[in-house]
Amino acid sequence: VGDVASTDLAGRLLAWFDARHRDLPWRRTTDPYRILVAEVLLQRTRVATGVPYYERFVGRFPTVEALARASDVEVLRAWEGLGFYRRARNLHAAAKAILERHGGAVPSDPADLDRLPGIGPYTAGAVASVAFGRRAPAVDGNAIRVLARVYRIREDVSAPSVQARIRDLAAALVPVDRPGDFNQALMELGATVCGPAAPACPSCPIEDLCVARREGVERTLPRTAKPRAVPTVPVVFAYVEMRRRVLLVRRPDGGLLAGLWSLPGGERPPAADDRAALRDLVRDQTGLRVRVEEAWATVGHAFSHRRWAGSLYRCVPVGAASAGPGARWADRGDLADLPLVPFHRRALATLASRGPASARREP
Ligand code: ADE
Repeated sequence: VGDVASTDLAGRLLAWFDARHRDLPWRRTTDPYRILVAEVLLQRTRVATGVPYYERFVGRFPTVEALARASDVEVLRAWEGLGFYRRARNLHAAAKAILERHGGAVPSDPADLDRLPGIGPYTAGAVASVAFGRRAPAVDGNAIRVLARVYRIREDVSAPSVQARIRDLAAALVPVDRPGDFNQALMELGATVCGPAAPACPSCPIEDLCVARREGVERTLPRTAKPRAVPTVPVVFAYVEMRRRVLLVRRPDGGLLAGLWSLPGGERPPAADDRAALRDLVRDQTGLRVRVEEAWATVGHAFSHRRWAGSLYRCVPVGAASAGPGARWADRGDLADLPLVPFHRRALATLASRGPASARREP
C-alpha cells in the first residue's frame, strides 16, 4: 500500500498491541454479543467512561435474548448518562432482529451485521473481525487519524470520499491472521499514542513508517473542515411538586435526549421571557397551568453540537393537576426506575437534600 510497507506495519502494530494493550472487559470475552455491545458503546463514548456502563449493561442483559425481551424503559435506564440515546434504542432493536433473523446468534458476516439497526460499516467490521476473525476493516476516528498521518493524507478527512479512501487503505492493511487484534491495535494507537494534539511519536511502533512524521507535519494532520461554532440556546425547566411527586414529561423519540423523562420545559425562543415561555411550555407538554416562582438552579449542558444554558424554576400548579398524555407525576420509586435526563436527576437529588418544599427559599 503506497510507499508504506504494509506487512511491517501490521506486524509491528500487533507486537505493540501484545505488549501494551489495555486490559478491557470486552477484551476478556469471545462472546460476540458482548463485543457487539462494547462496539456500539464505543461508537461515541470514550473507553474510560464506557467501562462501568458496559459492565452494568451486560450484567443486566447478559444475552441477546435477555436484551431483546427487556422493556424500552429498562434499556434506556441502563444507558442513562452515556448520551446519544438513539444507540440504546438501536441496540435494543438489533437484539430483537438477531433473535428473529438469526436465531439469537450474532451474525459473523459484515454485510449481515451492517443490516442491523444502528450498525454501520465501522461497527460491522469491528464485530466481524474481533468476534469472528473475519478480515474486515474497522475504521473509527482514532484509526482515521493514524492513517491520515501514516499516509500523510492532506485532504479534509470529514469528506466521504476521503473516508472511503482511508477505509480502502485500512482494508488492504488488515492481515488474514488476527484481523481483530490489528483493528483494535490501530484504534488503540490512535487513542493512546497518536493523539490529536500532541502525538507521542517517540513511543510509536510505526514512527519510522509514518510519512507525516518523516516530513514533520504530524501535528497538522488530519485536516478537517473548520468545525461550526457550537450555538448556545437558552432553556427553561419547571420543578413542579405535589404531594411528594414531581411532574415529568417524556422527551420525543427523535432529537436530543430522545425518549428520556425530563422536567417539563426545554428550549425557549431567544427573545422570549423565561417565565412566560416556561408557562407555555408546561401547558403544551403537560396540560397543566402553573405559576412560575423563583429560579432554583441553573442549567448548563454541552451536547456535541449545541449548548444549553438557563434556569430551573419552581412552579406551582394552578387549578386542575391531572397530567396529560406523555406526562406523569413521579414518586421516588418511579424516579429510580425511569430513564431521566441526567442533569435533571442530579438537580432533583440536590433539591431533595435541601429539605421539604415549604422550607426552601433561595437567598
Ligand atoms: N474503539 C472502538 N472499539 C475499540 C476497540 N475494540 N479497541 C480500542 N478502541 C476501540
